[in-house]
Amino acid sequence: MSVTRESFGFMPDGTEIYKYIIENDCGTQAHVLTLGATLQSFIFADKNGEARDLLLGFDTVEDYLTKSNYQGATVGPYCNRIGGAAIDINGKHYELVANEKGVNNLHSNGEFSYRPWKALVPDADCVEMSYVSPDGEGGFPGETKVQVVFKLSQDNKLSIRYHGVSDRDTYLNFTNHAYFNLNGYDSGEILGHTLRIDADAFTPVDAMSIPTGGSMPVEGTPFDFRTAKKIGLEIEADHEQLKMTGGYDHNYCLCDGPRDLCEIGEAMAEESGIKMNIYTTLPGVQFYAGNFLAGKTGKKGLPMNKRTGFCLETQYYPDTPHRPEFPTCLFKAGEAYESETVYGFSIVSNEK
Ligand code: GLA
Repeated sequence: MSVTRESFGFMPDGTEIYKYIIENDCGTQAHVLTLGATLQSFIFADKNGEARDLLLGFDTVEDYLTKSNYQGATVGPYCNRIGGAAIDINGKHYELVANEKGVNNLHSNGEFSYRPWKALVPDADCVEMSYVSPDGEGGFPGETKVQVVFKLSQDNKLSIRYHGVSDRDTYLNFTNHAYFNLNGYDSGEILGHTLRIDADAFTPVDAMSIPTGGSMPVEGTPFDFRTAKKIGLEIEADHEQLKMTGGYDHNYCLCDGPRDLCEIGEAMAEESGIKMNIYTTLPGVQFYAGNFLAGKTGKKGLPMNKRTGFCLETQYYPDTPHRPEFPTCLFKAGEAYESETVYGFSIVSNEK
């Protein structure tokens, strides 16, 4: 195992951004940037032993700052959406940035995602990124200190562990926004990937992607991924919820609250033979099929088109501050937020 570091460029204010490469003895690599604690590349050998990069992303700091839809970024203090861009805590009202359609808050206006983080290398298999979110930043109360540890194992599991503490009562909801393509970022649509998500229900949304309340069973709907099926099989089905969001872009309900690390699904691409198993301690996962990707270029200047990557953003449910029926993610001052998500990679065996 080894961790190496190289320069990735500079922020407009001159801060240097580094890329850390964690490599195991099989040659698998995870590339993590200090910009937004971003997972930039994941290099893994396909069924023929050819290395592929399984993550959509960019080659320069400038592209991450100007073109990114959070590709690979750490998101917080509150990922996903908060309706009306405002929260109330202990009887106090906090206005957030209405960065989506001028009405809602999305991904805390990128607060964690586009800032330089500090990096530490505690061991030869991991990198720890840290960030301090000042009190009142983006409207959120409290100074929040966050550490994210990216760790690669010899058996090709990438673990992302989050730890956060605020000095005020506040909502905390962190995720990583990796867009995966298990045939490689440059290989086209992900509609032929098979996907399994171990969830009986999802949270339905309105036309602005804000949960309407409660959950909807997946049974008998195109949202049912309890048995693996191709992402593209029913993505164009005539279902109100799919029409609303232009394809899958929904939070799946995994459980009622944080729990021990648990497998929650699996994705697979036949052409490369690459399989990814997903594990998390969190109660929700946003499955986003990359419906709004288009009009931008990514790595090597190649177009990043609609549905060429998919996201499984593990999280508490969206808009939890306004939904008492959802698992809460209100943390007391000094109380630690902890979570872990693991993406495990392997080659599908041809044996039946
Ligand atoms: C964010 C969300 C995704 C999706 C896109 C739409 O990135 O995390 O789930 O809704 O916005 O652009």
